[in-house]
Amino acid sequence: MATALIILGAGMGTRMNSDLPKVLHAIAGAPMLVHAMKSGAALDPERTVVVAGHGAAQVEKAAKAYDPDVTVAIQSEQKGTAHAVGQARDALAGFDGDALVLYGDTPFIRPETLAAMTAARLTHDVVVLGFEAADPGRYGRLIMQDDQLDRIVEFKDASDEERAVTLCNSGVIAVKAKALFDLIDAVGSDNAAGEYYLTDIIGIARARGMSATVVRCDEAETLGVNSRAELARAEALFQQNARHAAMDDGVTMTAPDTVFFAHDTVVGRDTIIEPNVVFGPDVTVESGATIRAFSHLEGCHVSRGSVIGPYARLRPGAELAEDVKVGNFVEIKNARIDAGAKVNHLSYIGDASIGARSNIGAGTITCNYDGVFKHQTTIGADVFVGSNTMLVAPVSLGDAAMTGSGSVITRDVPAGDLAVARARQDNKAGFALRLFEKLKARKAKGS
Ligand code: UD1
Ligand code: CA
Repeated sequence: MATALIILGAGMGTRMNSDLPKVLHAIAGAPMLVHAMKSGAALDPERTVVVAGHGAAQVEKAAKAYDPDVTVAIQSEQKGTAHAVGQARDALAGFDGDALVLYGDTPFIRPETLAAMTAARLTHDVVVLGFEAADPGRYGRLIMQDDQLDRIVEFKDASDEERAVTLCNSGVIAVKAKALFDLIDAVGSDNAAGEYYLTDIIGIARARGMSATVVRCDEAETLGVNSRAELARAEALFQQNARHAAMDDGVTMTAPDTVFFAHDTVVGRDTIIEPNVVFGPDVTVESGATIRAFSHLEGCHVSRGSVIGPYARLRPGAELAEDVKVGNFVEIKNARIDAGAKVNHLSYIGDASIGARSNIGAGTITCNYDGVFKHQTTIGADVFVGSNTMLVAPVSLGDAAMTGSGSVITRDVPAGDLAVARARQDNKAGFALRLFEKLKARKAKGS
């Protein structure tokens, strides 16, 4: 059956104590909302509606950055989760399949779990994702009657007896879209919060003779983030899972607890990651690379056999071919480094391309920025750039060219040429000795 996703993200998130809408707080470098959208995308939905309200413009931007086809529905006043779902009605007009409601503050639902829900929909009118909570806290409680889900009671409205129930509501609900909007019309706001609760649709559905059931999942999947402490817990949980997944995929990590992944990091088999490495978004490391300690990578691609760090920084647009070496205190941004090239010490390479097997000496800087514009540095293959060369872009060095150490290169260097651009050395015979004597004499006189 065709599926439409409704992802709720209009809430203010009072307990975050933040100017940023709650669902835009990031886990592993991506807004929580995007995590929720990613889980839902695994069902290959026909339509996706994100309900935004608090900070709607920002929420819309983040949602569309991930999926340009998403529809954003506005809930201008946050009157509760049922009212929020109601805002998706127009976007789903004429849609005849199942609607799956996800909460934007619940980032870890696995695609397999959502698939189990759509399967359960074949035999039940309403399917709720539930979990056994070790500490049920403020979650809504699922009240069962034999094998049917009878109703959901919110913590605020629950009796002591109901609060003792440990089967909790994750917030994810699957029901035929048309039925969903009918049920929502019947929801009132006569409860402790004075809100229209989506959770009330279960009791209403049952009173109408519809069937309802619970699909259970692990508590870790349904972790809802409502505060900074819960955000930190969610981040820790994500990292723990990402580390295990990487090791299962054949990555060696000497100190996994000190390595931080982004939501989309890809690391190939037999790559070694040393301690204290941080991955920002959009990094791919191929098989058999080595990322040495204290390196920071984002928006880059590292090919097979390359060795990065220790203490290296790869920024967006760093594209490293096979067997490249990038050593300590080297920063690379928007630059392509061809196979076997080496940038081993204390360099900045930005807006550049470096040909195969070239060697970039210690302290080399591509001076790419004139204060207004960025300029390109092009270095051919088999080039030897002497230590402490300033390459004032735009500039290019032909194949097998060389630069003398300490040169400031402002003009192109043809292939095979040696460019030396520094003051000529002048040795003054015996001058140092005479100068020392003079200085020591002055010190002895105390002046
Ligand atoms: C909700 C559930 C609760 C469940 C818990 C799981 C209801 C009434 N309660 O409680 O049973 O155990 O999630 O985490 O649904 N939102 C809107 N518009 C609104 C209100 C909320 O878009 O008017 C969005 C929020 O941005 C958030 C989601 O809906 O993404 C959930 O809202 P929240 O207020 O966090 O609900 P909980 O109290 O956590
Ligand atoms: Ca919540």
